[in-house]
Amino acid sequence: VPKIKPKQVFSNQLQPRASSFKVAVLGAAGGIGQPLGLLIKMSPLVSALHLYDIANVKGVAADLSHCNTPAKVLDFTGQSELANCLKGMDVVVIPAGVPRKPGMTRDDLFNINAGIVKTLVEAVADNCPDAFIHIISNPVNSTVPIAAEVLKQKGVYNPKKLFGVTTLDVVRANAFVAQKKNLKLIDVDVPVIGGHAGITILPLLSKTRPSATFTDEEVEKLTIRIQNAGTEVVEAKAGAGSATLSMAYAAARFVESSLRALDGDGDVYECCFVESELTELPFFASRVKLGKKGIEAFISADLQGLTDYEAKALEALKPELKASIEKGVAFVHKQA
Ligand code: NAD
Ligand code: LMR
Repeated sequence: VPKIKPKQVFSNQLQPRASSFKVAVLGAAGGIGQPLGLLIKMSPLVSALHLYDIANVKGVAADLSHCNTPAKVLDFTGQSELANCLKGMDVVVIPAGVPRKPGMTRDDLFNINAGIVKTLVEAVADNCPDAFIHIISNPVNSTVPIAAEVLKQKGVYNPKKLFGVTTLDVVRANAFVAQKKNLKLIDVDVPVIGGHAGITILPLLSKTRPSATFTDEEVEKLTIRIQNAGTEVVEAKAGAGSATLSMAYAAARFVESSLRALDGDGDVYECCFVESELTELPFFASRVKLGKKGIEAFISADLQGLTDYEAKALEALKPELKASIEKGVAFVHKQA
């Protein structure tokens, strides 16, 4: 298992390097898109920030462009401006789509968000097929397979560069474990594997660093809290949407990690939902090593030596995750 360095968003602000990466956010006027735009605008690694939405993005871009940081901000509205938004991008982040309301599952968003992700990824395939693609739109367990099928149909699929963003699960696990165990937040790292919905979210508490011991009851409570954390926010927002600020923070961390990898940093590890051979499922979230060409290695050691609780939870999540993956694949084939 690699030695994991403590992670912070924009830790490289301490040692600024001249870099010139181009990042696009699709769905940039939304609840996630706006704070995510702000956080990306703060990155010294970004020279261009392209903001795309179907409406209301002009004001967001004008606002952000007044921050005196290097990234040049441009706005793009509607399908006719999408190609120009995407040309030359190194990273494309997709938080476009509808969020949950209380009582809904992430899968309830499928009917609307599947088509949105399909259309946007078609444009990515046509205009910047070499970019890292970060899918945030739910249900991630299905939207990532949708994106993969679209890219395959276009003949440009590179499984090393397509990522479902599950960083928020890790951020939450780290926060809740540090709180419970009185650990210094910056030190805590909990890998979260599987997928991004309900029981498919599986925090590996036994692999927590620095190592910590948990009673069976603590494991059960923390696991359930991490799995239900999205719902906790949906209920607290009471109809006004789902996690946006913590999600923007998590997405910015994943963007920053991707840019550091593209910049040649040889020590970048993140959990994400990707095409994978770690289990019999075609997509699976695990820790991966990121490099200039995308995924460089899968950290299979995380899946070894699981506790009984984790091993059972891993088996239990597989049927749901498999069905969600197949639903995404079938959606694209039905439309073909
Ligand atoms: P939001 O409604 O506030 O914003 C969504 C934005 O997408 C809006 O500005 C909307 O105009 C835009 N949009 C809709 N259709 C579009 C299209 N065809 N092209 C471009 N933009 C389009 O929602 P939000 O709170 O920002 O959440 C967005 C998505 O992210 C939801 O699906 C939500 O479930 C998901 N999400 C995922 C995670 C995760 O961990 N992966 C966490 C939180 C939210
Ligand atoms: C989350 O985990 O917060 C997101 O997937 C949004 C949601 O619907 O819970």
